[in-house]
Parts: sequence; C-alpha cells; structure tokens
Amino acid sequence: MASPLYNASGVMCRTREELDAVAGSAAGALITKSCTLLPREGNPEPRYRATPLGSINSMGLPNEGYQYYFDYARQFDYRKPLFVSISGMSLDDNLQMLTALRALNLPCLPEVNLSCPNLPGKPQLAYDFAATAEALEQISQVYPHPFGVKLPPYFDPVHFAQMAALLNRFDGLRFVTCINSVGNGLLVDLESESTLIRPKGGLGGLGGDYVLPTALANVREFSRLMPEKHVIGCGGIKSGAEAFMHLLCGATAVQIGTCLHEEGVAAFARIESELIELMQRKGYQCLADFRGKLKTLDC
Ligand code: DHB
Repeated sequence: MASPLYNASGVMCRTREELDAVAGSAAGALITKSCTLLPREGNPEPRYRATPLGSINSMGLPNEGYQYYFDYARQFDYRKPLFVSISGMSLDDNLQMLTALRALNLPCLPEVNLSCPNLPGKPQLAYDFAATAEALEQISQVYPHPFGVKLPPYFDPVHFAQMAALLNRFDGLRFVTCINSVGNGLLVDLESESTLIRPKGGLGGLGGDYVLPTALANVREFSRLMPEKHVIGCGGIKSGAEAFMHLLCGATAVQIGTCLHEEGVAAFARIESELIELMQRKGYQCLADFRGKLKTLDC
C-alpha cells in the first residue's frame, strides 16, 4: 500500500460511486460495505449521528447484496488492494458468500465481520468464543486462501488472551481488524431530552473520540498476542497523531470511519501528510521504524 490509510467498512463504500471515490483518493486501499446474501434497506432513520466527540450509528446492514460487491471486485483494476466485507445473517450465509468468492479467484481479500452490533435480537458472534471457533473452522474449510476478521472491542485481558489463542489456530486468518464500534452506547440530546437515533431505543455503535483508547488497547494487545498476524487499526483516527498511535501500538494499516464520514475523502491526504510530518519531526523514515514500538512505564 502506498499509504497505510483506508476507509472503515460502512463509510463511503455502499455504492460503486462511493467505492470509486475512495479508489480515486489518496487512500492506500478500499473496503466494501458489509454485505448479506440479499440487498437490505437497513434500520429506520435517523440511524447515524455525529457529535463533537464522535458518532453513534445503528444502520442495520443496509447494502446492495453480495453479488453487487463481487461484481465490483470483478471489474476493479486493483491499482490498490480491495477488501470485501462479508457479514451474513448466519454462518451458512457467510459460507455461501465465501464459496462464491473463492470460485471467482479474484485478488481481493475478505474481511469477515464477526461483530455487527446493530441487528435487533442478534448478538455479536465474536462475543461467543465457542461459536467463533466453530465459524472459523468452517470458514477455513470453504475458503483456503488468506482472509481476515473484524473484531468488536474486548475489555478484559482474559478475553484478549482467549480470543488471540483461538485466532492463532487458523493459518489462513492473516489479519484482524480492531475495532468495530463500541456497541450499544446511548447518546442523549439535552434540549429535546431524546435519543439521537431512532433504532433500538437509541442504542448504537460508538465511533470517533469516544473509542480511541479502547481501539488502541485492542490493537496493542492483539498485535502482542498474535505476532504472526497483521492487525488493522480502526477507531478514533482523525489526524496524523491518532494514526501514529495506532501504528505505534502495532497496526500494519489503519481505517478511518467517523472522520471520513464527516470530512469526505479529502481526509486521506490530510491525515497522510500530518503523519509524514510527525514522522519527519521524530526522524522516522518508514513505518517499520516505530510500528509496535510503544514504550511502557513498568520496570
Ligand atoms: C453495521 C454496523 C456495524 O458496526 C457492522 O460491523 C456491520 C453493519 C450496520 O449497522 O449496518
């Protein structure tokens, strides 16, 4: 990748036109909206709101259906890497989509989303460790090529260790993206005394400044515990400073969500130039000079 920055799945990636805008920007790669077997309208609006500190969303997987994104992948020129996010409503749906992707034999990389927090009545797969292990066993059978997973945030060192040990068992699993939104937060408007979004009584996934420390902890712990795998950082990046922090915590590349939604694709060139300026000030010539080299204060 010419730049370590690209879009977080869900932002600027639902339609061909949006994907083309990311492809034509300074982003180093692009990823599609999480897809299901059939097209979906998603949850009722308003379903995304931004605040000075970040965002809340409960989109409900609005997408054009997997065939649309696989068609996009077939006609893409691969001037930069293309990731395809897969988020079936069941394991069988995911297996069906991955079987179809395998048959196409394209140079794109699937990011299997184990962490959609916004489907009423459906818990996130990645908070069920046994179900996650079973899913990865079956995914590895039908998709014997490199793939990755999108993880939710974890909040306990025992959970970091258990999930890392589980993921380390799968050789085809080459990258993990940390983190999806911090699920089921609630933002309240003081004046109207109302929730900001309509679905799920106002509950939604948090992004932006709200989640940066949680994202950094997940990137740091998973990169320490899975030295053979790549960690893609996602959460709270809005300038070169947060991008640098994610890389310092061990990320190979980073995704931009809330900031991209608010600023548009110009965010990629701005954040990249801020990152370069920061590296120059510190005397670093390449990402490997500082990647994963976070210092800690224990003796
Ligand atoms: C949606 C949100 C997510 O965080 C995710 O991983 C997948 C889908 C959504 O609401 O559309």
